[in-house]
Amino acid sequence: MKVGVIGSGGREHALCFSLKNSNKIKQIYCFPGNAGTSSIAKNIDINLNDFEKLKNFIKENRIDFIIVGPEKPLVDGIVDYLERFDIKVFGPNKIASQLEGSKIFTKKLCDKYNIPTAKFGIFSNKVKALSFLKNCNFPIVIKADGLAAGKGVYISENYSEASIAVNEIFAGKFGKAENLLIEEFLKGEEMSFFIISDGQSYKMFGTAQDHKRVFEGDLGKNTGGMGAYSPSRLDSEKLNTKIINKIIEPTLKGLKELNSVYKGFLYAGLMIVNDEPFLIEYNVRMGDPECQTLLPKLKTDFSLIIKKCIDQKLHDLTIEWHDDKSICIVLCSKGYPDTYKNNLKINLEKLNLEKNQFIFHAGTKISNNTIVSNGGRVLNVVTRSNNFKSARESTLKLLREINWDDGFYRKDIGYKVIKE
Ligand code: AMP
Ligand code: GLY
Repeated sequence: MKVGVIGSGGREHALCFSLKNSNKIKQIYCFPGNAGTSSIAKNIDINLNDFEKLKNFIKENRIDFIIVGPEKPLVDGIVDYLERFDIKVFGPNKIASQLEGSKIFTKKLCDKYNIPTAKFGIFSNKVKALSFLKNCNFPIVIKADGLAAGKGVYISENYSEASIAVNEIFAGKFGKAENLLIEEFLKGEEMSFFIISDGQSYKMFGTAQDHKRVFEGDLGKNTGGMGAYSPSRLDSEKLNTKIINKIIEPTLKGLKELNSVYKGFLYAGLMIVNDEPFLIEYNVRMGDPECQTLLPKLKTDFSLIIKKCIDQKLHDLTIEWHDDKSICIVLCSKGYPDTYKNNLKINLEKLNLEKNQFIFHAGTKISNNTIVSNGGRVLNVVTRSNNFKSARESTLKLLREINWDDGFYRKDIGYKVIKE
């Protein structure tokens, strides 16, 4: 089979890597990919906004199915577009992708189906939002609607911080804003919970925990993710059953009633408060870097899982996992998440990976036959082990061997599951 993967980050390198492990896959194309994917797939440089060009390439090269990695093309309706041309795609359609594309869509769904989430209000103008905030308890959470690459969320400690948030959102900092959301601050522990669905049936696809803040101790600015570990320490049959019954199933039912189905990975970002799950957000894709910690633990042929989803036969399959822990640490370019340089050389030639160690490229490209940086998050270093402590030690050892002067990384990823 020939398969295409859309995207260019560490998640997409991990997807290509997992597909490559299958003897059923003859050729992988990655649109547009990175230096890592170029060693196992053919990188095709097509602008992801140009659906027609993408469709023509897929048709001309008779690609059997497409996996969409990032949210933007999903929210823009790439699945609906490609399916109109009889192309098989793994990913949710435009209606279902609103789960990530519009926080207000998701909140309304939560309201209708009694899905536990933070209490919230929707405000369409500044005056009303500010007057509501005058009488609130702090901290409070203020969110832009729509996609904001993880940046449109403010946790405000007082009225003055909150008014800055409201002003920035309505001034269009995250794109044209017709509405914003003000919601109750939930105090608990976060958990990333994944399922995979074929539109008829679904299966759990693991749990993880990411570290979004740039500095050790979970301090500093939010980033795309500085590292992750899997499973979450909260993962238990009892909690997972609650999540499925109170959050996942009502969501899938709600989509069905909108005449949509959910096909693809669904990632619930949860806050667990006193053993009770609350939905913070949905993502209509795999997490990045959570995906890089999950896929190396997969025993079942990944291409078979996706093929079963495309054929709506997922119920036939038992998905098997290695009963291991895994940790991913993200090597970033100095200055990230603010300004950083690109085109910095990285030398990976002398590295010898053991069979439980993995390097997934994120922001890299090949320039004059060498690997150079091409983004803020550059490499994802992952180890699988029977315990978190040795997984982290082995990952840190590899990072020291990479010894990239232009980069930095957090040494405390997984601190909640590792006793020093
Ligand atoms: P989001 O983009 O909605 O996932 O929000 C980004 C981050 O803000 C989350 O990962 C949480 O750490 C935090 N956050 C969002 N909503 C809330 C909330 N209602 N209570 C507490 N923290 C929140
Ligand atoms: N790791 C957070 C995300 O993928 O959105």
